[in-house]
Amino acid sequence: MNILRADNYDQLSKIAASKIIEKVRANPKATIGLATGSTPIGVYKLLIEDHKTNGTTYKQVSTVNLDEYIGISRDDPNSYHYFMREQLFNHIDIPLEQTYIPNGMAEDFLLECTRFESVIHELGGVDVQLLGIGQNGHIGFNEPGTSFKSRTHVVTLAESTRKANSRFFPSLDDVPTHAITMGIATIMDSKEIILLASGASKAKAIARLVHGEVDEDFPASALKLHKNVTIIADIAALQLV
Ligand code: F6R
Repeated sequence: MNILRADNYDQLSKIAASKIIEKVRANPKATIGLATGSTPIGVYKLLIEDHKTNGTTYKQVSTVNLDEYIGISRDDPNSYHYFMREQLFNHIDIPLEQTYIPNGMAEDFLLECTRFESVIHELGGVDVQLLGIGQNGHIGFNEPGTSFKSRTHVVTLAESTRKANSRFFPSLDDVPTHAITMGIATIMDSKEIILLASGASKAKAIARLVHGEVDEDFPASALKLHKNVTIIADIAALQLV
């Protein structure tokens, strides 16, 4: 794993955005894996800015997202569909039909998981996958204990994850209990992975990722088995490394 140290969140966002822009310029038909949450918002802002100023085009790009809550419609402001449109898709020239996010309102979730895996397969795999990290080491919504062999599946969200995400909801009770997520094996199939971490709240997780064992109790540790992973983290997130 390659570690890039950023002075602060803005610099972290710049480094990550320039890597993605470079990828899209080199391969205008690239498939980019995206994440939601607070951490990638700065990256998305810079992709929009670059699209508007320098004309980088996403007309032929496809995107796949890591996860979606179950039981929240795509037009609900708390859905990851809504988040992605607001934070990125509505502001660049990507056709929405080339953006793929698991459907949290599917009638048959097993079928939806298989469908999502086929989408990624038909796109030829993910060229570069952006990841955040949970304080408990989750990637996507793969909570501690998830098999490294897992593919897209339905998960019960850990209480700590629901609490962390409750900042976006009126109350903890409103946070969904289940989600659909790419599995760890699905994430590991990506040709390249960029993991972002910002702030002191991620310091323990980053230290464990860098120095700890490969262990299913710490999902992000699977990344140690991947050949092309870059961690981009700011000083606060790297303070225990
Ligand atoms: C989001 C996702 C999660 C987040 C993680 C960190 O699609 O899959 O794993 O990346 O919870 O979230 P933030 O960035 O809000 O700290």
